[in-house]
Amino acid sequence: MSQERSDTLVLFGATGDLAHKKIFPALYAMVAKGTLNEPVIGVAFDPWDFAKLQARARDGIVNALGSIDDKIFARLASLLRYVSGDYRAPATFEKLKTALGSAERPLHYLAVPPAMFEVVVQGLEQSGAAQGARLMVEKPFGHDLQSARWLNRVLHLVFDEKSIFRIDHYLGKEAIQNLLYFRFANSFLEPIWNRNYVESVQITMAEDFGVEGRGRFYDEVGCIRDVIENHLLNILLLLAMEPPVGRSADDLIDEKVQVLRAIRTLTRDDVVRGQFDGYLNEPGVAPNSPVETFAAVRFFVDTWRWQDVPFFIRAGKSLPVHATEVIVRLKRPPLDVFDPIKPGDCNHVRFRIDPQVAISIGARRKAPGDDMVGEQVELTALDDSKGDMPPYERLIGDAMNGNGQLFTRQDASELAWRIVGPVLGDTTPPPVYAPKTWGPAEAMAGFGPPNGWINPAK
Ligand code: BG6
Repeated sequence: MSQERSDTLVLFGATGDLAHKKIFPALYAMVAKGTLNEPVIGVAFDPWDFAKLQARARDGIVNALGSIDDKIFARLASLLRYVSGDYRAPATFEKLKTALGSAERPLHYLAVPPAMFEVVVQGLEQSGAAQGARLMVEKPFGHDLQSARWLNRVLHLVFDEKSIFRIDHYLGKEAIQNLLYFRFANSFLEPIWNRNYVESVQITMAEDFGVEGRGRFYDEVGCIRDVIENHLLNILLLLAMEPPVGRSADDLIDEKVQVLRAIRTLTRDDVVRGQFDGYLNEPGVAPNSPVETFAAVRFFVDTWRWQDVPFFIRAGKSLPVHATEVIVRLKRPPLDVFDPIKPGDCNHVRFRIDPQVAISIGARRKAPGDDMVGEQVELTALDDSKGDMPPYERLIGDAMNGNGQLFTRQDASELAWRIVGPVLGDTTPPPVYAPKTWGPAEAMAGFGPPNGWINPAK
């Protein structure tokens, strides 16, 4: 596969939810910036005409951005084509082949349920549309280690690994890019970024809403598969990895894979699960479903740098706020020279991932007054978010350019499933928590980083 830019984008699942909410707004933004000038061929089962697809795309853009510029939309519409048909029918792929015309290096983007991946990939191969092409696939990449391996085999029958882009939209977030940059563009961190100074790491992804009509999907997945095995584990890797030796995609991914190899396989003692009260009444959710909507998980990274430092990840639906944060908590100073410092009150680095992008250093200073008594303060670098590029825009652009740095490589995907494997599919009903609380209080008692969790603010 050459590094040349893809010359057409083929979007399978063009009438679906993801295309509506995220992909069309991203394509519109790319057209506005002049970074997308190639044809876009939407493919889907729905027997729509082109006007209906355009209207749907327009609606998604207005919803996401609040307004639309007709000239920019007209440019996007001029790039757009639509092929409708059953993914199981060779005729659909013949129509696609015709629509591709003289394209030599299409990027096929599979924004469809994983059950359709094999059928589409085979259709692409049989029609010749896979020739010279790249493939981008949406998560989940399997359901467990075995299905991930099977999926990889299916994809590799037609595409080589360098041409496959497994998308984890979290990696395209500005704040995640910032975290990686901050770690390796500053020298003051390196001496303390290890087991000698770091007491614990905690990552919280809180969502203050439920499953929002996605009950059927969510009930097959649960919190660990939905966001911990992929998005949040990826954040842990960026915090724990060694600096990459070069700038290539593989240089970065190789370091992440080294961490994955060193993470202990989880046991049930490493996990507290919960389910919000009311989940069982959500449409699409099985009666008595044992699926978790909240999970707190403890990881250990068995390397020289991180031995015995606990890394906690906590995520859930129907929590009190909508925010994602990382806290790297440092150990206490060896002696209280002035006032006694409370156990949790020591230095930390806070990465605010969502909704704002911010990095803060938590420190103590003297409180104004006569006595040598201190107070906790935070020095914060807040990004006003104006220059942010939404993840889908960044990642579609990268895949079209053949840059795999922010995508999940086969070995990384399989290692992540190895780590969480033993805690998946727990059929014990999880303890119930009241919506707008921080998970099941009783089950969480005593489970967490030394000196406790820090709940992100609104
Ligand atoms: C998705 C999950 O991958 O990520 C959702 O399926 C979750 O359940 C979403 O809400 C969170 O992503 P973001 O970017 O909206 O915070």
